[in-house]
Amino acid sequence: MGLRTGTFPTTRLRRLRYNQAVRELIKETQLSLGDLILPLFIRHGTNIKKPIIAMPGHFQLSVDRLEEEITELKNLGITQILLFGIPAHKDSIGSDAYNHHGIIPTAIAKIKNIAPEMLVISDICFCEYTDHGHCGIVEKHGDTFNVNNDKTLVLLTKQAICHAQAGADIIAPSGNMDGMVQAIRHGLDKADFLHIPILSYAVKYASSMYSPFREAAEGVPQFGDRRTYQMDPANSNEALAECALDVNEGADMLMVKPAHTYLDIIRRVKEQYPTLPLGAYHVSGEYCMLKAAVEKGWLDEKRAVLEVLTAIRRAGADFIITYYVKQVAKWLA
Ligand code: PBG
Ligand code: ZN
Repeated sequence: MGLRTGTFPTTRLRRLRYNQAVRELIKETQLSLGDLILPLFIRHGTNIKKPIIAMPGHFQLSVDRLEEEITELKNLGITQILLFGIPAHKDSIGSDAYNHHGIIPTAIAKIKNIAPEMLVISDICFCEYTDHGHCGIVEKHGDTFNVNNDKTLVLLTKQAICHAQAGADIIAPSGNMDGMVQAIRHGLDKADFLHIPILSYAVKYASSMYSPFREAAEGVPQFGDRRTYQMDPANSNEALAECALDVNEGADMLMVKPAHTYLDIIRRVKEQYPTLPLGAYHVSGEYCMLKAAVEKGWLDEKRAVLEVLTAIRRAGADFIITYYVKQVAKWLA
């Protein structure tokens, strides 16, 4: 399609904005509920629905409180969720992450019982399960530390298989270890989960925007930060290198995270890999910025949120993980 070369007054672009019906007809980007995924935080214990302070409207839920939540989602037409678990027991190697009776396997069983049609994506990482809060096996060297990449791969693979056995529909590794997709793909295949797709958090930045999430998932690093494994926000070419590796290793879908602050990255990845489904994670900090402005009366929530989510889709994301799924379901209904 060539560019419009007309000139005023023959050409008047305002004609196509004349009324709502015309605007709908020429709309390029659609936002629909089927493109959105809701994260849920599942906590050990019973009868818990604990508000997450920096994420208004979100809670840590115990497994016995899942029924009301899943029923609400069903009633709203929401069928896609991403699970994070907060286990009773944390240790240096995050052993609850691959415990068959651990928090996520228990939650998946419950969810599938209530709503077999629910698409359950399991986040595969260790920060919620380790006592030090890092995303893998930590080795201390005096004052410094290292997250051992290859030792972590072994555990990520165990976690992925464990969650697939529990009934997870999609495995989503988020720890930014090199080779994680290859290790998990190999492990899943050997365990006969050839049909289970991997959604890789291929492009994940060391962002300030995750801090409310760390309260929600109780995965605050007890020392240091994640800059030795997550990407530098200043880099863009590196995002394509991350994607190239993950695609070669067998990733079925890619993700960019955060989303709102990384629209240029979403666009570059989509242009490079047009045939791969691309997700974007509208993260906790991006959620709470909007919430805070709305609470102050400075932004109109519906207009602001639909605009931001549409912008993420327009940039090139095929689907979005966002804490706004319930509101969007009501607005689009
Ligand atoms: C864990 C993980 C994080 C998020 C998703 N998975 C936190 C982190 O990497 O520190 C952040 C999501 C959000 O902020 O909403 N690896
Ligand atoms: Zn992690």
